[in-house]
Amino acid sequence: MINGRVFLTRAFAPEAIQRLRDEFSEVDVWEPYGPPTPAELAQRTAGCIALVTMVSDRVDAALLDAAPTLKVVANLAVGYNNVDIAAAAARGIVVTNTPNVLEETTADMAFALMLGVARRVVVSDADTRAGNWGLWHPTLWLGNDVHGTTLGIVGLGTIGSAVARRARGFDMRIKYTGRNRQPETEAAVGAEYVPNLHDLLRQSDFISLHVPLTDATRDLIGATEFAAMKPTAYLINTSRGDVVNTDELLAALQSGGIAGAGIDVTAPEPIAPDHPLLKQSNLVITPHIGSATHATRRRMAMLAVENAIAACSGGLAPNAVGLAP
Ligand code: DGY
Repeated sequence: MINGRVFLTRAFAPEAIQRLRDEFSEVDVWEPYGPPTPAELAQRTAGCIALVTMVSDRVDAALLDAAPTLKVVANLAVGYNNVDIAAAAARGIVVTNTPNVLEETTADMAFALMLGVARRVVVSDADTRAGNWGLWHPTLWLGNDVHGTTLGIVGLGTIGSAVARRARGFDMRIKYTGRNRQPETEAAVGAEYVPNLHDLLRQSDFISLHVPLTDATRDLIGATEFAAMKPTAYLINTSRGDVVNTDELLAALQSGGIAGAGIDVTAPEPIAPDHPLLKQSNLVITPHIGSATHATRRRMAMLAVENAIAACSGGLAPNAVGLAP
């Protein structure tokens, strides 16, 4: 039994919570539906040795200073831009993520958005429910094909390559860009490397973003990039909202600069209910559910818990991203 308290900022898979209860002498679970405020988070984390966080929890130096006994922050996500890694490392706190369990599920979501926006699934569903089916007509609810087109992947990591594998089944030409060329993955998924982002944007019918949020990728896609895209092209974002400039996305959708977009992430999250993006019929938008299947969320929860246990048992956390110096 690990002598110490763990704070879990949202209730998740019961078997993962049970595993925490089996291992830690004290388990504190945030039960309200909404997230703790920063003050509530600091208050509940104080005195803990482990903290299990969600992508929407901000873990910064002030929070870490409020919890001098903390050994590990186990983030329930593959991305960890919500955690100040440098501040954690400076305080000897390990940060972990949940890789290799959600990539296929997130790639499914990227395809759902691609098909949803290009084939007008959401708009025609809403019209049908509103009683506007009326008649079958050869010019109604026309969209664009996904099969046989060119897919441009920005970031051929584990999620990007899972998207590429799906694209092969749709007979798509697959191109990608990224900081480094990846000859092995490229050969495995049949993708062509395009060194320059703007060249990729010019050549693609669908652009799918699979980069982490860093200083280098913040606002990676803005007015200049939308201008480089074909007016018939679609942008798909299942990475982080801040990778795309929201105002400039709105302008591109309103002006017909691009044909449409499918986004699972926004900046900030959640998007305001009266945000003008929500008026765009050429946008399909979902509430950051890329990894939201029963099986995947269960796997993520178990992995986060195992990381917290390992880090507090004197072992190496399997998915440490911010090891203490
Ligand atoms: C991740 O894993 O980074 C996702 O965005 C959370 O679902």
